[in-house]
Amino acid sequence: MISNSSYAVQPWSLRESTLDVDRLPQSESLFALSNGHIGWRGNLDEGEPHGLPGTYLNGVHELRPLPYAEGGYGYPEAGQTVINVTNGKVMRLLVDDEPFDVRYGKLRSHERVLDLRTGLLRRVCEWSSPAGCTVRVTSTRLVSFSQRAVAAVSYEVEPLDSDVRVVVQSELVANEQLPQKSGEDPRVATALEDVLQPEEDFASDMRLRLVHCTERSGLRVGAAADHLVHGPESTRTSSESGENVARLTVTAELRPGEPLRVEKLVAYGWSGVRSLPAVRDQVDAALAGAGSKGWQGLVDEQQAYLDSFWARADVEVDGDAEIQQAVRFALFHVLQAGARAEKRAIPSKGLTGSGYDGHSFWDSEQFVLPVLTYTSPDSVAEALRWRQETLPAARDRARQLGLRGAAFPWRTIDGSECSAYWPAGTAAFHVNADIADAVTRYVAATGDVEFERETAVEILVETARLWHSLGHHDHHGTFHFDGVTGPDEYSAVADDNLYTNLMAQQNLREAADVVERYTEQAAALGVDDEEAAAWRDAAEAVALPFNETLGVHEQSAGFTGHQMWDFASTGPDQYPLMLHFPYFDLYRKQVIKQADLALALYKRGDAFDAEQKARNFDYYEQMTVRDSSLSACCQAVMAAEVGHLRLAYDYVGEAALMDLADLESNTRDGLHIASLAGAWIALVAGFGGMRLRHGMLDFSPLLPEQLSRLAFTVQVRGRRLRVEIRSRTAVYTLLEGEPLELCHCGGEFTLSAGEPQTHQVRRPPPRPEPSAPPGRHPARRRGGPVPVEQGR
Ligand code: BGC
Repeated sequence: MISNSSYAVQPWSLRESTLDVDRLPQSESLFALSNGHIGWRGNLDEGEPHGLPGTYLNGVHELRPLPYAEGGYGYPEAGQTVINVTNGKVMRLLVDDEPFDVRYGKLRSHERVLDLRTGLLRRVCEWSSPAGCTVRVTSTRLVSFSQRAVAAVSYEVEPLDSDVRVVVQSELVANEQLPQKSGEDPRVATALEDVLQPEEDFASDMRLRLVHCTERSGLRVGAAADHLVHGPESTRTSSESGENVARLTVTAELRPGEPLRVEKLVAYGWSGVRSLPAVRDQVDAALAGAGSKGWQGLVDEQQAYLDSFWARADVEVDGDAEIQQAVRFALFHVLQAGARAEKRAIPSKGLTGSGYDGHSFWDSEQFVLPVLTYTSPDSVAEALRWRQETLPAARDRARQLGLRGAAFPWRTIDGSECSAYWPAGTAAFHVNADIADAVTRYVAATGDVEFERETAVEILVETARLWHSLGHHDHHGTFHFDGVTGPDEYSAVADDNLYTNLMAQQNLREAADVVERYTEQAAALGVDDEEAAAWRDAAEAVALPFNETLGVHEQSAGFTGHQMWDFASTGPDQYPLMLHFPYFDLYRKQVIKQADLALALYKRGDAFDAEQKARNFDYYEQMTVRDSSLSACCQAVMAAEVGHLRLAYDYVGEAALMDLADLESNTRDGLHIASLAGAWIALVAGFGGMRLRHGMLDFSPLLPEQLSRLAFTVQVRGRRLRVEIRSRTAVYTLLEGEPLELCHCGGEFTLSAGEPQTHQVRRPPPRPEPSAPPGRHPARRRGGPVPVEQGR
């Protein structure tokens, strides 16, 4: 676990003031830069030592066979794995005759700072070579938000005490050696070696280019670099290329106080259809675009992009400096994951590591997109258009499964199903309703009618068709979905999972509504009145299993009748349970991996009364072990709603610090983007009580006593809305735009720009806190330490 003291608690940055080589795998994930298209892990400039070298291009993957001991009908044949593409961030340095390597000589100081306002990763270190020459190396990196295909590095070296001869090698490196997967953890990616076949290499003057092709997936990847060198007169350059490396070599004789600076612009491009000349031209053009701005121009554009983001997305927390830092860190990484993904999936690790093979799951629609919907809505439209583009594969999959409409994959890179484990893959049909929910939420939050007509109708119709063909009416007319898997992966192939049923019900209703509004599009999709009426009938008759004796809903039919998991005999080192117990046993007991019914309470709050919510929450709390990082934020939201504010605060801490404190000991594989998004969800939907009701935002805010103030800005229907909550009041301010209809605790009001409104906070009567399974209570949170830096 990364101890919190590795990073200073600062409101706008992540600062590491000493280098711990053993923790490089984690820090590379935390310091990863991405724009949703390109991902650069926070590897040291000189490439080594490293935990996991990582350069990713969203969508670039290789295929690999999926081995089955016992195959079966409809099992996916090929898996997809994200690959480490050409590394453009390498800057090697030779000081006199010795390579700069932090493992040798003496590292006098080493600091890395990720600045969340500028989007720059800066590293400054002073190093004495084994022969005793001391140099200062300063590097700054960015992956551009404004120019999607571009990343850049500014690298500077300066002698501190004597004249030195330095050699800087700026490289493009393909097919880097990767550490082999150790252990049995299925969440770690398969490491594919030598996956890039060389097609072309080029070096001339300051320019470098490599083009490679993947063998089985047939994707062509181009990377190019251009440089500007600032150095004394003695500076010389030369360049060369081979199949897997292209290199600019810069030599100079430096005196103390006389730096050598190399500015490197890097461009990437890839395609599954474009020819070698076309990909070559594509990266050259991107490089020319970057060159026209230059390093400083890119830095300025990055700043402008982030200024605009923070103006519509910032969250301020008073009373807990650690949470303040964590939520901004989280927002920054969520933005990085989705900003320029543009019709590509948003992987569960973003582009920060290769965990889960770089696959995208429902994490995107139910965790990441809800945050981006209110902070960066254009990226949401793009992410959902990607789903629309994958509809042909989803339709084929539905047919293969004997169903109608479209069955979206449980995990994928390119839109086809990659899950080799059908109980938690194929059977997890809720992903379809999650996508439909994201579509509806985006439309309600933006009023984007063009998207509704062109994209929403088709997705809602095809998912409604799936649900209608998947379910059946029993002889009482009740509509059931049998044999499905809900969010809790410790229960599988169950009947009437409440979350699935409620989300499917909403999906069916929304589809029936949208086809009434868009008759032309509906007709083109072959929907008639009878079909839409059948959706409505099914929706109104959906089974909602309830145990009258316990007075709680069933997570799925019969769930509360199962034997309780033997928590008392389960040791702390036996979590996560799936790595220590057979699924067979988990499936037949009352034990929950992650919020399932609790998520239903949040997402379909309209289906429960307050008493049911409270009873349900308390009942399921005692068996929810949180073996998934997707859980804590959902529990935070519902704990806050039912009045367990202290517990909600603990869960906020867990969701927000998942990666900064490496709570699951796997941050090395990449960041938990859903949990990072969950930090925002836990604060805004939890303590802010934000819900979308009948297309309108409704807030029921309430703070735990540890926080004295929470303020956040959201973008809704083209307006910017700021909500500021203190212990007794909530102030609503419209920062920009036409008057907006809102609700405070269910009461409607109209807010106009320049006329803030103050409402009283309502405090529910305190209730005894439910217990978590033994040893699984989230860490009890006290207010965080005092920040060491206020403002910039
Ligand atoms: C969770 C899933 C999630 C996946 C990727 C699993 O551990 O149970 O709900 O989609 O991780 O984050």
